[in-house]
Amino acid sequence: MALGMYDIITKKKRKQELTSEEIKFFVDGVTAGTIPDYQTSALLMAILLNKMNERETYDLAMAMAYSGDMLDLSEINGVTVDKHSTGGVGDKTTLVVGPVVASAGAAFAKMSGRGLGHTGGTLDKLEAVPGFNINLSEKQFFELVKKNNIALTAQSGDLAPADKKLYALRDVTATIDDISLIASSIMSKKLASGAKVIVLDVKCGSGAFMKTEADAIKLAEAMIDIGRRGGRKMYALISDMNSPLGEYVGNRLEVYESVKTLLGQAPKDITESCMLLSALILKGAGLAGSIEEGLKLAESKIESGEALERFKTFITGQGGDISFLDDLEAYIGKTERVDVLSESEGYITSVNTEMIGMASLYLGGGRTNKEDDIDPYVGLKILKKPGDYVKKGEALATLYYTGSSDVNKARETVVSAYVTGESKPAVVKHFYGYIDESGYHEL
Ligand code: URA
Repeated sequence: MALGMYDIITKKKRKQELTSEEIKFFVDGVTAGTIPDYQTSALLMAILLNKMNERETYDLAMAMAYSGDMLDLSEINGVTVDKHSTGGVGDKTTLVVGPVVASAGAAFAKMSGRGLGHTGGTLDKLEAVPGFNINLSEKQFFELVKKNNIALTAQSGDLAPADKKLYALRDVTATIDDISLIASSIMSKKLASGAKVIVLDVKCGSGAFMKTEADAIKLAEAMIDIGRRGGRKMYALISDMNSPLGEYVGNRLEVYESVKTLLGQAPKDITESCMLLSALILKGAGLAGSIEEGLKLAESKIESGEALERFKTFITGQGGDISFLDDLEAYIGKTERVDVLSESEGYITSVNTEMIGMASLYLGGGRTNKEDDIDPYVGLKILKKPGDYVKKGEALATLYYTGSSDVNKARETVVSAYVTGESKPAVVKHFYGYIDESGYHEL
């Protein structure tokens, strides 16, 4: 019998399992534009309500990956590695992890996206480096990975086009927040990007899709299952997004903090996050026998200065000007600064990360539409984090702003993002655990 969307929707409505052929028929039709949006949306909602099993989720990811270009990295010597963060505020780990693992011998070949809403994007951070080219041709991308062990480019227009269409529909039909749909969407792009080893940084907390550790583990496991079925080595770190990562949010400010991390001068949370992600990649690439060995190797690349040197090679390889490294304070020095003062006293129990990201957006550092321009100079320095004690009138954060920033709105948003209480919160965790071949390990 010929396949038809009505029957496929009916099956999922009745909680039945879809066959590989049915999923491929659906994705091919979405890609070709032959399935009307109302039928696509109906199926997405049926999936969200009645769920897909692991096999169906894998089939959906593969069909979306194969809806466009599949990058074949096999001509690159060495193990190709990639990382993916499920989105955060102040998450600049790629800028550090890439050079660390490249200097240790892994081939870091990554395609990245831009930031939208409260979350930042790696491409925007790299564009805050004068001259840096994020639009490499496939030939340039391959040459740079072969020469420097590291290159990072914008996702090509034809990377998982079915996902692009489905994501746009999910966004307006309240069907984003399903683990199978999120996992297959993210993994379709990772599978199409070609790397052999993929390390996921799955965030949980106020600034993330997943609000609890248990849900973050479920999402990580769903993505790991897809990647392993697709022949990739998969690892995941489950990390906290109940406060921004590191001290700085904003594009130039985050490049600044990345360099500080490469110099070994950054706060503990961002440093540890970069080291753990690097260790997982190095283990996956066979350059370290265990996570502990991976951590030692990663730390040695910071201490010896090799990771910073590789960062410079990476930047110049893509046309960037590294003279900003000679005067890092001048690089972030162009804006006005003002402190946001606490209106209450007590222990900080939580910082709403999404609101901090929105404050950066009001200053001009983010976009509400894909086409918006962003100001690379503006952002925030976070001065107080969960567990700290704050007095009324004491500074919570510093805003870096220009004439076009909405400073008042940003200030109000930061004040509302901070919650204080009388007692010190229990241990504030930056990481919950990681998943490797042998399962989940709490940290
Ligand atoms: N990021 C993606 O690429 N897809 C999702 O569904 C959610 C986050």
